[in-house]
Amino acid sequence: MKITFLGHSACLVETRDHHLLIDPFITGNSMSTFQADDISCDFILLTHGHADHFGDTEALAKRNDATVIANFELAGYCETKGLKNHPMHIGGSASFPFGEVKLTIAHHGSSLPGPDGLPIYLGEPAGILIKAEGKTIYHAGDTGLFLDMQLIGQMNTIDVALLPIGDNFTMGPEDALKAIEFLRPKKVIPIHYNTFPPIEKDPNEFAQAANLCNTEAIVLESGQSIEV
Ligand code: NI
Ligand code: MN
Repeated sequence: MKITFLGHSACLVETRDHHLLIDPFITGNSMSTFQADDISCDFILLTHGHADHFGDTEALAKRNDATVIANFELAGYCETKGLKNHPMHIGGSASFPFGEVKLTIAHHGSSLPGPDGLPIYLGEPAGILIKAEGKTIYHAGDTGLFLDMQLIGQMNTIDVALLPIGDNFTMGPEDALKAIEFLRPKKVIPIHYNTFPPIEKDPNEFAQAANLCNTEAIVLESGQSIEV
């Protein structure tokens, strides 16, 4: 399995037969080196509805005839846009042709601006556990630190955790280090930093601190991949 970082919280997970996009915010993403038109996928997994995560979902799902996997409310929003979708909710798992997905809690918001500019609330935000080809990936989405990460770590052997470090809207680096202690992943990829001024953080500083906690932290530039 291969994970390619697309900048911000967006990544592409490639299994032998499937391309999964998580939080495909490409257009307008200052950290991305990609064009949404060049990306192919058959599933799109969304942690929550904020524009920097929902991103290019509508265009990508339509062009690729991809299925959007998201919480019930956000999947319902996708339904109104004519997108194929599979609704789930926190604590639930489901099997897909590529493997298994479970939604976890995340402490954050989830909305998109409606026609009058007021937010349309899109249910609870989530983290995503993906189990495929014998490996487990945890994408935390946008969240603050929470103690139940201990439970996620106890119940899963996480090969790669993608954790936000940008602060302001999510965990900052210090809390992300605590998250590593709770989750005990083999590898960590920092996400959700440097895209906008309020979330400017040095990922290498975070990586050094994580390495001191005996977790291999990997800072990826947009377009770089790791094999899991
Ligand atoms: Ni958000
Ligand atoms: Mn965000």
